[in-house]
Amino acid sequence: MPKLLFIGDVVGRPGREIIGDRLLRLRNKLGIDFVIANGENAAAGAGLTGAVAKTLFDAGVEAVTLGDHVWDQKGFETEIAHLEQICRPANLPTACPGRDHLIMEKNGFRLAVFTVLGRQYLGMKSECPFLACDRMLSALAGRADAVFVEIHAEATSEKQALGWYLDGRVAAVIGTHTHVPTADACVLPKGTAFLCDAGMTGPYASVLGRLIEPVIARFLDGMPRRFPVAEGDVRLSGVVVEYDAVAKRAVRCEPLMVRKGDPS
Ligand SMILES: [Fe+2]
Ligand SMILES: [Fe+2]
Repeated sequence: MPKLLFIGDVVGRPGREIIGDRLLRLRNKLGIDFVIANGENAAAGAGLTGAVAKTLFDAGVEAVTLGDHVWDQKGFETEIAHLEQICRPANLPTACPGRDHLIMEKNGFRLAVFTVLGRQYLGMKSECPFLACDRMLSALAGRADAVFVEIHAEATSEKQALGWYLDGRVAAVIGTHTHVPTADACVLPKGTAFLCDAGMTGPYASVLGRLIEPVIARFLDGMPRRFPVAEGDVRLSGVVVEYDAVAKRAVRCEPLMVRKGDPS
């Protein structure tokens, strides 16, 4: 039974370092076949670069997804076309560079991966995520044995609705973007693993991965300022999904959280 680990939004150097320290051992211990990570905050907390992505791949990540911070790093819009294991959200305008999905393969099992952006309280120009999933699933028919969908969205209602919309049609619908892990991991009745938010991989003594004080100050006076990445209480957060390739359904969906300094 293929098993995948999805790692929630990697935030800055602390997030990259805990992946470097822990991922290979975790992977062996849990018998993981596929490792996917959201890298939208991996470069200094905002966006991604090819060099930063390489540190994730060197640490054992095999596919990197993105979210609304996809274009935050200058030059990434030209780099992305050359990065074969990275996909940008599938429902961005078709004019945007980059792949809209990835297909991973292990022992003859093909896992397709794509992300859709939500549209509630998210400012990106994007196609309806529900219809985008329909379009992507039609395009992927016959090209993959299972599909992993990431819903990168603010509203839990939008994430839950998409989970139900895709139940039985994909292996998993896993949420990202809010950086706070939710306690609702399940396998929906028709066999789709679901979780509203996989949490972030980075410093939890923070506000969503950033230093606390400037964020509080911004809420108090509304003035713009830099939000450096925080450092304390670093955790790797994600979810493990096990898929029964014969029954064609997910059989397990378990959140995973590893703290820096935890025994392996
Ligand atoms: Fe994020
Ligand atoms: Fe995001």
